[in-house]
Amino acid sequence: MRGHVRPPGDKAISHRYALLAALADGQSEIRGYSTGGDCASTMRCLRALGVTISETGRDASGLTLTIMGRGLGGLSAPTGVLDAGNSGTTMRMLAGILSAHAFSTTMTGDDSLQRRPMRRVIVPLERMGARIGSKDGRPPLSIQGTASIQPIEFAPDVPSAQVKTAVILAGLHANGTTTVHEPLATRDHTERALQAFGVRVDVRGRSVSVRGGQRLTARNLDVPGDISSAAFWMVAAASLPGSEIVIESVGVNPTRTGVIDVLRRMGADLQVDGVQISGNGSNVGEPIGTIRVRHGHLGTTVIDPAEVPGVIDELPVLGALATHGGELRVTGAQELRVKESDRISALADGLRRMGADIDELPDGFHVRGSQRLRGGDVDARNDHRLAMAFAVAALGASGPTVIHDAGAAAVSYPEFFSVLESLRA
Ligand code: S3P
Repeated sequence: MRGHVRPPGDKAISHRYALLAALADGQSEIRGYSTGGDCASTMRCLRALGVTISETGRDASGLTLTIMGRGLGGLSAPTGVLDAGNSGTTMRMLAGILSAHAFSTTMTGDDSLQRRPMRRVIVPLERMGARIGSKDGRPPLSIQGTASIQPIEFAPDVPSAQVKTAVILAGLHANGTTTVHEPLATRDHTERALQAFGVRVDVRGRSVSVRGGQRLTARNLDVPGDISSAAFWMVAAASLPGSEIVIESVGVNPTRTGVIDVLRRMGADLQVDGVQISGNGSNVGEPIGTIRVRHGHLGTTVIDPAEVPGVIDELPVLGALATHGGELRVTGAQELRVKESDRISALADGLRRMGADIDELPDGFHVRGSQRLRGGDVDARNDHRLAMAFAVAALGASGPTVIHDAGAAAVSYPEFFSVLESLRA
């Protein structure tokens, strides 16, 4: 695999910039907005809540959106049910915002989203004064919001940036200060995005506080390339002899770069250059850089529980990495069981069908890359990251692999298979 790639706009950051632009005073322009299905779900829901969003351009980095902000607490009641599609991020973060709006909304999603746990946001948002109905803690959610949402101090039991964000965004509408104490550090895009929109956020260790009632100022922002999408090319280059891939304008926020550390520990030859803050003219944006990856001899490593939040979305492709050589053991990753699919069982099942030596653990997996894969018939279970991880594993196999539900890749990376084709040396 050889060549240069500009990965699509970061999914997590795209969601946040769109949501905050919708709550800001004035018109924002977001460039490099993710073309994936999940970020389209956020746009669809925001439009249903009265936000005017125009798509004014598109290039290799993604969409350019102009978003007319409605001001803090200014969304309007939707006329129908909101559909978050496959996107847990859309549902959980919007639940926080809608809890602070004095109308009722029903939010649902596809079959996968309807199986995902929502109590983690329902519990704190109800403590703040919202009433949220669900199907035994799962979607659809019916949210009765309130204009007098209360500030809280909250310590979630799962490390989750989505939960942190839902509570902080509700707290932004409260009269008083809301604080979230995290069990382990998770991605800090919300904290950075709020500051980019002019909101003061206090971060002390793993605690984040925001004082409610601060108005957001519209901004023009660039979304960095998605390191979780870039990870597929990083792993492909690291594992296939003779490979070299250069990934440009990729986000290198330290809360997301765990994949770089793991790849280096496994023996990849990886360089990060030219790091700068992505172009919004302030120093509260997101760092971007260029990553160059070359094949290296793969060794053995472990990912322990404290490291998991920083690589949570890259674990499927890191499992694929270890099928190319070396050995990887992951524990403390039980959250993988409640992602778009049960990623532990689906990954173990798929890689095993391709000939991998993999053990499923209750909270992780153990892969030994002692023998070359033969390829096989695998099921991505409608999960985007599995579809792409299986493709990267398949590149090293002696025979062909058929990936069912491969189209799921479009949830975060619609261009994935055409880029794969273009990188073939
Ligand atoms: C995300 C946080 C992570 C991640 C998801 C996106 C976010 O989920 O897996 O893909 O944008 O905040 P959790 O916060 O539930 O771990």
